[in-house]
Amino acid sequence: MLSTVLYNQGHQWIMFGRDPEKPDKIIDTNQYMVVSAGRALLLDPGGIELFAPMLAAVLKFVPIEQVTDVFASHQDPDIISSLGLWDQVLDNARLHCSWIWEGFIRHFGMNKIEYVPIADGGGTLHIGDIDLQFIPAHYLHSSGNFHVYDPKAKILFSGDVGAALEAPCGPMEVDDFDAHVPKMLKFHQRWMPSNSAKKDWVDRVRSLDIDMMVPQHGRLFRGESVKRFIDWFDALEVGTAIRR
Ligand SMILES: [Fe+2]
Ligand SMILES: [Fe+2]
Repeated sequence: MLSTVLYNQGHQWIMFGRDPEKPDKIIDTNQYMVVSAGRALLLDPGGIELFAPMLAAVLKFVPIEQVTDVFASHQDPDIISSLGLWDQVLDNARLHCSWIWEGFIRHFGMNKIEYVPIADGGGTLHIGDIDLQFIPAHYLHSSGNFHVYDPKAKILFSGDVGAALEAPCGPMEVDDFDAHVPKMLKFHQRWMPSNSAKKDWVDRVRSLDIDMMVPQHGRLFRGESVKRFIDWFDALEVGTAIRR
């Protein structure tokens, strides 16, 4: 599991991914961790298959007792099916996820971790010395879905929005936006069900000051490519499995 420090100015953002040991038929995922003042938040810590390499990677940065918070953008197995194993190693941790998913996510196994429901309008998480914002991203693609914005680092964690189907050892960053579009196109057309939900998200994120947009699959966007992604997504028709 490759670890990349994305931001390190008072607090840290670390990206975990591009695992060469990953079985072929499992979709490649990016996991993230935010560390501030002796506390760590895991963002979409991943599937059950990834738990062992993820735990080893996390421990290179923080002792396990500093992992106090976990965030799940939505309920998918590639996001959070490792929960039952994290539950065995984390004491006094909280899981932040949409209120609608508690009864479902508990099927992954959760005895010690506390479920902290996020209301539909979003909210703020104070961790260490920083405040992170839960940005509503409902129906993108899940019916209860959030992204995480860090106003200090100017990083938006965008879950499945911005995802690309990429070779396991592909580059970390979008260098040529036009060349990257074919890797994103079908995923966004098919997985994202609602044009009005997409518009709601576009309007929200256009008001944020974003240096880096980091998705759960594929490559991260920086600077101009963030704006290009938002414009591209804004113009894209989604929900294409049903055509009327
Ligand atoms: Fe998903
Ligand atoms: Fe995903």
